[in-house]
Amino acid sequence: MLESIMKNKILVTGGAGYIGTHTCIALHEAGYEIVVYDNLSNSSREAINRVSALISQPIEFIEGDIRDAESLKQVFATHQFFGVIHFAGLKAVGESVAKPLLYYNNNVSGTITLLEVMTEYDVKNLVFSSSATVYGDPETLPIDENSKRSCTNPYGQSKLTVEHILEDLAVSDDSWNLIPLRYFNPVGAHPSGQIGEDPNDIPNNLMPYISQVAVGKLAKLNIFGNDYPTTDGTGVRDFIHVTDLAQGHVAALNYLEQQVAPVGFLPINLGTGKGTSVLELVTAFSNVSGQSIPYQFAERRAGDIASCYASADKAKNLLEWQAKLSITEMCQDSWRWQSMNPNGYNVKDI
Ligand code: NAD
Ligand code: UFG
Repeated sequence: MLESIMKNKILVTGGAGYIGTHTCIALHEAGYEIVVYDNLSNSSREAINRVSALISQPIEFIEGDIRDAESLKQVFATHQFFGVIHFAGLKAVGESVAKPLLYYNNNVSGTITLLEVMTEYDVKNLVFSSSATVYGDPETLPIDENSKRSCTNPYGQSKLTVEHILEDLAVSDDSWNLIPLRYFNPVGAHPSGQIGEDPNDIPNNLMPYISQVAVGKLAKLNIFGNDYPTTDGTGVRDFIHVTDLAQGHVAALNYLEQQVAPVGFLPINLGTGKGTSVLELVTAFSNVSGQSIPYQFAERRAGDIASCYASADKAKNLLEWQAKLSITEMCQDSWRWQSMNPNGYNVKDI
């Protein structure tokens, strides 16, 4: 039997992952009721346990795959959701080049299945995890939401394809509210040190790599390129604290709750608007942690761009959200998580 209508009940797909866990906490603190749906392909029950401990109540967790329509239908039949925050997806660029079908199947087909079930149950509010990767190599900086989109790898292509699907859906039926949030570079961890990013194997991304060098798990950082047209020759990115990012999702839901007319397709950048170079991040991390971060310059990494940072005006104007935390706080929280959990959750196979 359906529960009574709850405007603030949210399905969080991929809610056991890095950004999802932080967002679950922010949603709970903002008064939303959450149901997490995750197949644990890149996360663990331990992450859910820790979120439950941090919010001092059990999380409603369903182990399931977004490609499994019957399982999703069961969830929608037992809960009446105001909307869905859709984090579930695979995110490793290199792996996507090696396994494109897996990425299109998981990220694109999975999203189509979710949208079909949402249609069937008349749940028309969606916040989708998109990425600054949809802008490819930007023509101008800062990057605003009207910038040209193009992608060079299957992961990015899967995000862009989902965006196109959402645009078409909004045209076909004007009752949808579809907000792709285009994240810039999420880093940092919950200030408790209890949850954070827990990459499998050797990290691909900069911040977890630096953290693992600082904690002594990796010997040396390779800095990919020191001849970019940037202040110090290293790549520049818009690093954003994951708890700020989490608040951006709460702001997007608040915005949807306030609307009297559907918003259709409404892409919004989540970034700080500030660029930080790889070398600047290494220095900041070293200062905060008191650890030396040995590094060497290496060849540019294929597919990397020189600089990428957001125009964050749309989020500020529409959602009344802006990032608050500094690079120092991002490094402090990443370091706390890494030093308290040198092996991450360490329970992936349970
Ligand atoms: P993550 O891997 O930590 O979290 C994703 C979660 O989705 C995991 O818990 C995983 O088990 C789950 N999942 C994957 N496929 C699923 C499926 N078919 N069914 C159910 N659950 C599934 O990643 P994250 O960093 O938290 O990223 C969340 C989302 O944000 C992803 O869609 C990612 O592509 C996007 N994103 C991430 C970044 C970043 O740098 N972290 C940047 C831009 C966009
Ligand atoms: N870098 C190094 N050494 C490393 C890792 C990274 O020098 O060991 C450099 C990169 O060359 C780049 C910068 O650090 O200049 C940031 O690299 P990341 O891999 O941390 O992040 P990217 O900007 O390449 O990409 C990330 C996610 C993408 C996402 C994008 C925008 O990996 O999935 O942010 O959100 F699309």
